[in-house]
Amino acid sequence: MRIDILTAVPEIFASPRQASILKRAQAKNLVIIAVHNLHDWGPRGRIDDYPYGGGAGMVIRVDVVVAAIRTLSAAYGPYDEIIYLTPDGEKLSQKLLNTLSLRSRLLLIAGHYKGIDERIRAYVTREVSIGDYVLTGGELPALVLVDGIVRLIPGVLNDMESALEDSFQDGLLAAPVYTRPPVFEGQAVPSVLLSGNHEAIAQWRLEQRLRRTAERRPDLLSDHGGEAPLLPGPASPSEAPSYTASPPSAAKAPSKADHDRPSE
Ligand code: 6GU
Repeated sequence: MRIDILTAVPEIFASPRQASILKRAQAKNLVIIAVHNLHDWGPRGRIDDYPYGGGAGMVIRVDVVVAAIRTLSAAYGPYDEIIYLTPDGEKLSQKLLNTLSLRSRLLLIAGHYKGIDERIRAYVTREVSIGDYVLTGGELPALVLVDGIVRLIPGVLNDMESALEDSFQDGLLAAPVYTRPPVFEGQAVPSVLLSGNHEAIAQWRLEQRLRRTAERRPDLLSDHGGEAPLLPGPASPSEAPSYTASPPSAAKAPSKADHDRPSE
């Protein structure tokens, strides 16, 4: 996959692209993330102008942005999607990330200042917002989009990091996780996780996911009839009698197979 990003503030992208999973994905040639400075297309670097009709703030010129789109499309395109990050776009969801992760060439346009001339919309295939709040520009939203897409590209995550059990990937929140120590300041790890009984562990995790989703995000369950699933027992894992942790001496260390990588 190739992702081009067009922005007036390319510096914002420097460190997030060069760390952790995004860095590794690029090193493995699973994705190319290229950032392009909109000022390169502005006459003498000038990319914005005063709004017609007056008002506060500057507006990015449509001719500058379209010149950039044309150069980039000729060099790296044609793009499967040209996405304008804007607070009045479609709200980002896991479903949209899944869709975009199947594309091979994306161009993201991060707005800044007051906005881009309305006529830009004729040149984009999609407009995306990351939520109902206002940020200073589309750069952080573009990074959110890139991060959410890249981790879905096959080979980017290892088995331990697998995206398949993510919150939202199947419409449910993720199960709670624990590592050593088995008891911390009176809080014990649920004993089922120390039992070695993989079937029981899988069952417990599914119950926790359903319970958590019902408690925290009942809206996510509306696809399943709008009813929170009925589950036996108390809500919190630490309150569950059948899952009371063994004493520290009896608790075994997490097995290597069960253990996530300690760090990136
Ligand atoms: Cl895409 N841009 C800006 N400026 N603010 C936002 C946003 C985008 N999504 C949520 N807030």
